[in-house]
Amino acid sequence: MLKISVLVSGGGTNLQALIDAQNNGILKSGRVVQVVSSRSDAYAIERAKKFGISVDVVDFKTSGDEFENKILNALEKFKPEVIVLAGFMHILSKNFIEKSQAKIINIHPSLIPAFCGRGFYGLKVHEAVLKSGNKITGATVHLVNEIPDGGEILAQKPVTIRSDDTPEKLQRRVMEEAEWVILPRAVEEVCAKISKIIPYSIKYPGRGIITGMTSAGRPALAYFIMGRSASSKARIFERAGDELIIKLTKQDKNFDPSLILYSPLRIFEDKIIVTNGDQTDTIYDFLKAGKTFEDALRTRDYEPDAPHYTPRISAIMNKSGFKQSILKRAGKFFFEYNFEPGFGRLIHTYDHDVRRDEILPSFMGEPREVKISDDIEKFALSLWDEIGEDYRVAMYVRFYDSKFATYEDRIFNTNTL
Ligand code: GAR
Repeated sequence: MLKISVLVSGGGTNLQALIDAQNNGILKSGRVVQVVSSRSDAYAIERAKKFGISVDVVDFKTSGDEFENKILNALEKFKPEVIVLAGFMHILSKNFIEKSQAKIINIHPSLIPAFCGRGFYGLKVHEAVLKSGNKITGATVHLVNEIPDGGEILAQKPVTIRSDDTPEKLQRRVMEEAEWVILPRAVEEVCAKISKIIPYSIKYPGRGIITGMTSAGRPALAYFIMGRSASSKARIFERAGDELIIKLTKQDKNFDPSLILYSPLRIFEDKIIVTNGDQTDTIYDFLKAGKTFEDALRTRDYEPDAPHYTPRISAIMNKSGFKQSILKRAGKFFFEYNFEPGFGRLIHTYDHDVRRDEILPSFMGEPREVKISDDIEKFALSLWDEIGEDYRVAMYVRFYDSKFATYEDRIFNTNTL
């Protein structure tokens, strides 16, 4: 669950829309934990207090820099991942946007690019819209960047202007018909997207390895397998001491067992080896003979499963960082990383899904950056969920302690023996 801070200056009806969305389940990937008001008499403060939300008041009468620094100080208490400007009547500087380290979302009461930018806020927007004689206005939710009302548009909704509209009447209808509807939905979309481990959608990654470090500095690894054929679907992961093995739930003679049954995880001294095939043993044997991860993999190739020629993916991790590798028809590639708390790299076998009668395209590019929270239960459940229930077969997750001495782990299997 992400933390959301809401910045307000006035009535706080958009804040109320967020609180309501939280209570009725529309906003479920984030939670409003803090309200920061630029006015001590803003009614938004009462709304926040009613729901037990922490309130900070930062008087906007201070000079620009001081005002922003005070807000940053207040935000520091919660370190929110998302900041929502809900009727916040001030333009934030580039410096603030960078320092806040959050996604900042703004609701603006017009259809951007019309009636936006400096000078267009609150009732002034609706006065200008009515003066223009336009028949349609609306609201826009957008990400905040250094250009006032210039960031990426997340959602818009039009509202028809009536002949008897006053700025106040129009403002109310734009809120009711557009703002309170699109703001909570857009905030949920942003929260859901940034709380994902795999920040892009991919239907059939095949087999995948993640190595990296949790947000609290624990070395972490994950390995998952998916399957489309009966034999690859009929597998389960099982612990074997500190290592991992794969078993078949039912015997099937029509496949090459070396591609199906192998050790996905082995340990040599202080090195953890994770791969998608029997190259685990090759790496182990080479390390034992005093050679390297790269030496071992240079003697191996992609899998002989024509016509796909599935890549062999491998990783090795020790106290100082990790390496990943992919052996595919296009070449043999090696990647090396230092640990970075909260992040890991994901390498998987297939780039994207294709029809069953088509050749599966190999993973392309560099291992993808993924997020690793420090809660193994949450991480494992999210990854299992993101892989998707159609093809997932088994998954293993291990978080070491920061000294690499002990670990906690999770095994997920679709099948039972
Ligand atoms: C809303 O209409 C919002 O879109 C607008 O101020 C009003 C605040 O109402 N924001 C801006 O004009 C920002 N440029 P609220 O306090 O009841 O949410």
